[in-house]
Amino acid sequence: MNFNEMIDRQNTESVKWNWFEKDVLPMWVADMDFRSPESVVNALHARVEHGVFGYGLPPAGLSEILIRRMHERYGWQVSESELAYVPGIVTGFNLAVRAVCQPGDAVIFNTPAYPPFFKAPQYANLTAVANPLYKDSSGHYEIDFDLFEHQISSQQVKAYILCNPQNPTGRVFTRTELEKLAEICLRHNVIICSDEIHCDIVYDQRRHIPIASLAPEVSQITMTFMAPSKTYNIAGLHASEVIIQNAELNKRYRRTRAGISEDPNILALVAAKAAYEAGEEWLQQALEYLQANRNWLEAQFAQRIPGIRMAHAEGTFLAWLDCTGLGLEENPQKFFLEKARVGMNDGLDFGDEGALHVRMNFGTPRANLELAIQRMESALMRL
Ligand SMILES: Cc1ncc(COP(=O)(O)O)c(C=O)c1O
Repeated sequence: MNFNEMIDRQNTESVKWNWFEKDVLPMWVADMDFRSPESVVNALHARVEHGVFGYGLPPAGLSEILIRRMHERYGWQVSESELAYVPGIVTGFNLAVRAVCQPGDAVIFNTPAYPPFFKAPQYANLTAVANPLYKDSSGHYEIDFDLFEHQISSQQVKAYILCNPQNPTGRVFTRTELEKLAEICLRHNVIICSDEIHCDIVYDQRRHIPIASLAPEVSQITMTFMAPSKTYNIAGLHASEVIIQNAELNKRYRRTRAGISEDPNILALVAAKAAYEAGEEWLQQALEYLQANRNWLEAQFAQRIPGIRMAHAEGTFLAWLDCTGLGLEENPQKFFLEKARVGMNDGLDFGDEGALHVRMNFGTPRANLELAIQRMESALMRL
């Protein structure tokens, strides 16, 4: 697979490539500019060629593939009745908080946070509780466990939306961190809605740990959301899965989604199966490429734009950039959009901690990263 190939996405209804004006290099929304594994493209071709697109079932064998994957990767035993499909993880965690909360309850999540985390409680008339991660002097984000527990015990928190690997900081939480979080949630009867959409994109020989796999009692309070969408770059197909091992919670989730959210469409699940079944070689190459992109970016900021500090992405293809050191008089997202024609996410969309930050997507050919850095550097020189 040639990850350096520049594929024109401008005329493909891509959100990323059509949001800004045409001369802006889009480095924002979290999909990648790479062609998906050939197994995915071929499976979709074959299904489309059949020409009949009536109501479908999940493809035979998909559940077995997922069950095997959970066992092989995480030593986690999952059975078919504990698994369901969901057309997107945002849909999934919106359903999850509705399944576990009553009016007046609160939902906690770590910030800076993926923007839909703020909205999920709002949409369901629940209270959103932001739990800020803190940044140490080296720029590493850590969980403030005391604050987390204090917020849970002082408010009516019934659900925790965990994001691991974390968007936007790129943290991949360690076993010790996950154990502490789980222990607090167990103690306070908080259900964990674990968004693990970035689970396959971790670097430097790190291993992702699903929080539910820590222990059976943790699994009993957890709903785990995963997907092939980031991993194999098929986000637009909206195939994802949820694992709920507590039978009562599983029933509540299924009751909440009834009549509202069906399984993903037939093409999405065909693509998911092909990706999980035969995408491993592509994924290993993608991980190598993404890790090299991350390393390259870090070095460029350090050498050429030292006023920007990039959080070390342990996972995800997202770079969280602290622009405080630039001393800009305006919002950095606006500055780089207008003066450098580089379109990134505004850090403020991720919560108050995102002031003076931008999020850059590095899931793109290196040439795009080079162009972005060059444009940003030149814009700063013109100041
Ligand atoms: C943490 C996180 N959750 C969910 C999503 C989107 O999930 P979906 O497209 O499956 O709704 C994203 C996409 O960027 C994400 O970063």
